[in-house]
Amino acid sequence: MMNRLLITGAAGGLGVEMRKRLAPLAKTLRLSDIVDLGTAGANEELVICDLGNRAAVADLVQGCDGIVHFGGVSTEQPWDPIANANIQGVFNLYEAARLHGKPRILFASSNHATGFYRQDHRIDNTVYPRPDGLYGVSKVFGEAMAHMYHDKFGIETAIVRIGSSFPEPWDYRSLASWLSYSDFQTLITRIFEVPELGCPIIYGASANATTWWDNSNTAWLGWSPKDSSEQFRAKIEATVEKPADDEAVSVWQGGVFTTIHKE
Ligand SMILES: NC(=O)c1ccc[n+]([C@@H]2O[C@H](COP(=O)([O-])OP(=O)(O)OC[C@H]3O[C@@H](n4cnc5c(N)ncnc54)[C@H](O)[C@@H]3O)[C@@H](O)[C@H]2O)c1
Repeated sequence: MMNRLLITGAAGGLGVEMRKRLAPLAKTLRLSDIVDLGTAGANEELVICDLGNRAAVADLVQGCDGIVHFGGVSTEQPWDPIANANIQGVFNLYEAARLHGKPRILFASSNHATGFYRQDHRIDNTVYPRPDGLYGVSKVFGEAMAHMYHDKFGIETAIVRIGSSFPEPWDYRSLASWLSYSDFQTLITRIFEVPELGCPIIYGASANATTWWDNSNTAWLGWSPKDSSEQFRAKIEATVEKPADDEAVSVWQGGVFTTIHKE
């Protein structure tokens, strides 16, 4: 059990869910976001902090022996907010980690780091990134920071290229990319319990019937997702119009993100 686990982005979709689920991993959860986090529960510390503020992030990281880094811009947006949270913020986090005990980190990367691979192309964790927007580029930057701080300073990071981690899939694409909260919880638990982690890239998807991602290079981690999106297929087929085969959402792993540019 860790003494103190920091979850950034704790007011977001994944943060709210994992705040409940990850409590057993540490004596204290330090929860941080730029927006209100509600009331602290037993064994919780709440810290409002902009990831772009270097001094504040240094204080935030001090005293933590693990970090789940969910905080940041999580969709395709203009460059300035992405640069503040996902570029400057990731630099601030890794510098703070280097200076304050080198905690193990989970970096919430994204399938949008490789969104311009086609859906009929099965990829593993050795492929060259092909980001599908500025958001995806920022995740590639975060992955590079994780590798550099591992190779140069020994900080261990699990880079998780999360697919679609929501209560349920909502369209045909997310039948392939869905990651259940339970499967993500068991992945995070493995990441913090293995004796040696290194700096692996792991695709975050459940055991879906359709899949674009090959995690065989990280089988040593001992993570086996249990859920499958098949339980939702009939509902989606009954309620969602199937997109044409040549639409972006049908062609590219990143789906509609490949078509959005907000500058
Ligand atoms: N949910 C998914 O399916 C999915 C898929 C791929 C990647 N991810 C990544 O996982 C992480 C969590 O995803 P989510 O769905 O919970 O996203 P979310 O947008 O719901 O949560 C992100 C949180 O980060 C906070 N934040 C934004 N800018 C900040 C800043 N400058 N300083 C401090 N906090 C800031 C937001 O207030 C928000 O609460 C994100 O990094 C996202 O890119 C999620």
